[in-house]
Amino acid sequence: MLAIRLFAEPDRLDTLVLPVRPAADAEGGDAPAVPVLTTATLPDGVADEAAALVGAARLTGRAGEIRTQLRPGRAPGVLVLVGVGDGDEAGWRRAGAAIARTVAGEQHATVVLPADASPDAVRGLYEGLLLASYRFRLTDAGEAPALAGVDLVVADPDDHLATVETARTTARVTRLARDLTNMPSSVKNPEWFAGQIAERADGTPDLHLRVRGPAELAAEGFGGVLAVGGGSASTPRLVELDWHPAGARTHVVLVGKGITFDTGGISIKPVPAMKLMRKDMGGAAAVVAATLGAAALRLPVRVTTLAPLAENAVSGSAFRPGDVVRHYGGVTSETTNSDAEGRLVLADAISYAVRELKPDVLVDLATLTGANAVALGKRTAALYSENDELATGFLAAVEASGEQAWRMPLPSEYVEYLGSEVADLFSAPAQGAGSVLAALYLREFTDDLRDRWVHVDMSAPSWADSDDAELTKGATGWGVRSLLRWLATLD
Ligand code: BES
Ligand code: MN
Ligand code: ZN
Repeated sequence: MLAIRLFAEPDRLDTLVLPVRPAADAEGGDAPAVPVLTTATLPDGVADEAAALVGAARLTGRAGEIRTQLRPGRAPGVLVLVGVGDGDEAGWRRAGAAIARTVAGEQHATVVLPADASPDAVRGLYEGLLLASYRFRLTDAGEAPALAGVDLVVADPDDHLATVETARTTARVTRLARDLTNMPSSVKNPEWFAGQIAERADGTPDLHLRVRGPAELAAEGFGGVLAVGGGSASTPRLVELDWHPAGARTHVVLVGKGITFDTGGISIKPVPAMKLMRKDMGGAAAVVAATLGAAALRLPVRVTTLAPLAENAVSGSAFRPGDVVRHYGGVTSETTNSDAEGRLVLADAISYAVRELKPDVLVDLATLTGANAVALGKRTAALYSENDELATGFLAAVEASGEQAWRMPLPSEYVEYLGSEVADLFSAPAQGAGSVLAALYLREFTDDLRDRWVHVDMSAPSWADSDDAELTKGATGWGVRSLLRWLATLD
């Protein structure tokens, strides 16, 4: 991970990055931009040169706009102007991402912030730099980016210590979620995934991990996890990670879908639909990473995270369409389509949470349906809740963190589709809106927590087809930033 340091004056002058914002009286988008004022000492003439460049290059100052000027034989040797838009956290986040990509070939860069840079600006810049410079590679071959360090010049580095700690942890655990989700499923089976969490949780005070294997799952009645995991040579696990700081008043349970590969099972997926199904544990990765982040930041709230981990494989021991699964707690589901496996493992975890953990709030994240993208496009998660206050609070955290979600309805007229003649519930109705029906199915397991529950179908934004601002091609780590931001609002 990029080393980022804060200074009151520039320490190195190899590559210098200066922010630019739209002129105060700008109307429309194409008014000339102005360089942002700084109190830092710049080499003679650099400020004037930057001002001249802004005009010559017709910069507008919009967030992420970038212009590089080479100055061979002089210091700095590279001068970069970057637009920060309104100068809010989102603007600086975009700027940070643009800087990380533009100077990837340099070893070091110094970014000079305005004299009055807010903690939000520093947070946005910091997260943008660390998230956009992320790369997942399983080989040393090929060209690695040279950029190893970035210095930020601010009026008083001590003003930003807490911000830096938060931003750094947020980026670090988001990158962890991306790593886990990008990892090929030949490596990433349930046992491996649980082992990765054990490694990272080890040694953190007040953080406890319990991993249930097949025998314990059977003894305690986790029939959904066992059914879905039953077709694979890699047996299922249930991860229970508990961040329990002394004095915590609020107890949150996070649940994340952890299908380490989704073939669809006997109801096998066609080739194009199966291509990316190693990402089907993106929900589990997000909730686990957020919990590790909460522990690292010592957030004063109890967070118990459940990640049911299973591979939905095709074999003679796989569960079949028409099988009836008995979930934790005893509710049964008729499984007409083995590709609707996520809700079966989530149902067990949600029932367990409601019956045994009895939290104040329950949040689940899942790459649950292809219908998420049909409804909301490729960057926006579908959020469901019966609690307006909870939904609003969560959506505000999503927005502030730079992720996107949209609230969806839980319409009662669809509930009848969940009826089965042979079991309590029918897990995969063929009619109705897919993401909505999956949410309504999960709601059946929430009991007392029905109005303190948030479900997020994040299938679409869990993956990016190409680099885009702070997102890099592949796993996005969607949800980690939102969850950490939301958890930090609770007490
Ligand atoms: N893991 C998939 C959902 C998915 C699809 C995630 C595309 C990301 C991208 C899930 O298990 C699934 O197969 N859902 C089915 C549900 C249907 C069988 C009711 C779907 O969306 O088609
Ligand atoms: Mn599936
Ligand atoms: Zn799935």
